[in-house]
Amino acid sequence: MGEGIKLPVLNGLGRTNRIDNWLKQPIAMALGLTAAMLYTAWRLFLYPESISYGLDGSTVMSPIFSPNVLEWNLFGLNEWNHPTWVNAAVLVLWIPFGFRGTCYYMRRVYYRTFFASPTACWVDEPEINKKLGYKGEKRLFLVNNLHRYFLYAAMIILAIKWWDVTHTLHFTDGYGMSIGTLVMGVEAFLLTMYVTSCHALRHLAGGALDRWTTGISKIRGKLFGRISILNRSHGFWFWTSLTFVFLGDLWVLAVCEGYLSDMALFVI
Ligand code: FES
Repeated sequence: MGEGIKLPVLNGLGRTNRIDNWLKQPIAMALGLTAAMLYTAWRLFLYPESISYGLDGSTVMSPIFSPNVLEWNLFGLNEWNHPTWVNAAVLVLWIPFGFRGTCYYMRRVYYRTFFASPTACWVDEPEINKKLGYKGEKRLFLVNNLHRYFLYAAMIILAIKWWDVTHTLHFTDGYGMSIGTLVMGVEAFLLTMYVTSCHALRHLAGGALDRWTTGISKIRGKLFGRISILNRSHGFWFWTSLTFVFLGDLWVLAVCEGYLSDMALFVI
């Protein structure tokens, strides 16, 4: 083996030859994730009220608290004498959390923002990272290998999101649309794009085959190609869908608390 090529990287945490504003993106991502986690903790444990509202027979449900498995009485959960801090979100959020937490794009985000490993391309990392080295998906990170299973569970949640949208369409006097429909519709759409651009879904569609030539394999190859196109923007769908989960919840909260009011745009 020949000698490895030494790249001219400056040594020292955050040192680099880059002259662009490389720190802007990791800072924005760190702030976004921290805000999302703090808001979720506040909503789950400190203010789990105002999670849905009714409008002339239609129902608009907060994306954070959907599916409301307690209200559905799934597996007799309603009769369960649960602690007061247990609510629908506490019971269900492990699915979207697990799905997003093991997402390939998310791994890049947290390695850059929270582990500085490295913070950006061509930027040196802390000494401790060099000492520890990269050990792959081991110990706690083994959970990342569960991503495909979280994907299956996330698909069920996604179907329920669209089911929620149908509940915003059904008014006492017929079918229609409200502002809540638009908010929940955009949220469900963005989530659909996030799920359908997933790397694991792409593998599920066309992976583990030598060629895509005939019959089912040809269809799988086509699907693989389509998902690959969506996959190029996976990071965009990650952030926009995440943002709309919180905007949707804020909308429901604001209407329930009387700061904003929803209205039917049309009913037929
Ligand atoms: Fe990001 Fe699957 S890789 S959701």
